[in-house]
Amino acid sequence: MVTRAAAPDRTAMRWEERVMRAAHPLAYPMLASITRPVLRVPGLGTVVTDAALLRAVLMDTASFAKTGPGSPSELWTPVLGPRVLLNMEGADHLELRRRLAPLFTPAAVSAIVDRTLGEPYASLRERLESGERVELVAEARRCASSVISALVGLPASVVDDRLFRRIATVTGAVRLSRPRMTPAQVRHARGVMAELTGHAAAAWRRGDPETVPGRMRELGLDEQESLGAVGAFVLTGTETLVAYLPRLICLLADTGWLRRLSGDRGHVDAAIAEGLRVTTPSPVMLRSVAREARVGDVVVRPGERIVLATFLADRIAPGFDPIGNPAASLRQLWFGAGAHFCLGAPLAMAQIRGMLTAVLDAEAVRPLAVHSRRAARGVLIPGYRSVVLGGVSEAATA
Ligand code: HEM
Repeated sequence: MVTRAAAPDRTAMRWEERVMRAAHPLAYPMLASITRPVLRVPGLGTVVTDAALLRAVLMDTASFAKTGPGSPSELWTPVLGPRVLLNMEGADHLELRRRLAPLFTPAAVSAIVDRTLGEPYASLRERLESGERVELVAEARRCASSVISALVGLPASVVDDRLFRRIATVTGAVRLSRPRMTPAQVRHARGVMAELTGHAAAAWRRGDPETVPGRMRELGLDEQESLGAVGAFVLTGTETLVAYLPRLICLLADTGWLRRLSGDRGHVDAAIAEGLRVTTPSPVMLRSVAREARVGDVVVRPGERIVLATFLADRIAPGFDPIGNPAASLRQLWFGAGAHFCLGAPLAMAQIRGMLTAVLDAEAVRPLAVHSRRAARGVLIPGYRSVVLGGVSEAATA
């Protein structure tokens, strides 16, 4: 069914709600019902829903860590090893980030995106302009795979649809109520990651400084540690983007902004930021309490878990509003804050701008509509399973 412009925000928000519920049928409604800025939830942890408090937790790495009980390290270290940024703290973490930073400068990011996606974006625009209907989720997946493969030194053919499906069986099994994977889940996850091993080891041995394994080798990290990092980048750098890009295009189509932006690009950056605020692709962050501290009016003790509900903290305004741009006041909270702020954010932004430009250029030539879509069920990162975008048909405009 083609999305029409009537009651645009309501349609957009209804779909957003559906996407979140399909991914997390139990956790989402439970968290979304919390109205207090901080609430201790038995069996889950202390849930933070207020943007200022959430940022304060992220900035205080002495009290709140990504290592320890209930933290991301408990979840991912058994699969990826101990040195993959997202499960590190302190000087080692800082040093590894410093070494990887040159891969994410504006110049490095635009070079990798131009090299890997220049042609696919041009082809996307041409296909849409010619009236072809495009499956956006598959398109986003191909684009994100090409970039991440180049970044971690894998042949593009390795990060294919099959690997994505395999990775989804790992991430899809993660539940907020279970801080650790079961031994069987760990075995399965390690098996999936092992599919990357041979290629990642070759990248490490080549030592190309344009890749993550090459940089890690320069830092003196061994082959094994580098393999974990390759897995971590494939995990963090693909699902979020593959989920966000189709959600953004749907939001723009549902609210009439696809048309507006195609004629006047002045609000493109605000629309991307508002899209990130409304969708918050990485909806929750986790921390473990390292020393007694206070979050709002709740005292938390070492070993307790903090659940940072970023998707709720980002709800500072209803709907999607690139003109008022409430997102601006959140300082990109959807990418985190402080020491663990998303390392791949510049690369994500370059990919988002590139794909949106291709779609807007096509929209300027041939008005587009979302012809069908399906929310993905039981996934870690909420998103669509399928979104078909194509020219508005005669019947739909009549
Ligand atoms: C729309 C897309 C993306 C979103 C919303 C997103 C969101 C986030 C967030 C919220 C964090 C911080 C987590 C925390 O503090 O617990 C993070 C960390 C990270 N992200 Fe992203 N991310 C995106 C895309 C990417 C891409 C494309 C890459 C890689 C190329 C990437 C690589 C990383 C890495 C390596 C970290 C860990 C940084 C550290 O712990 O020091 N992300 N991301």
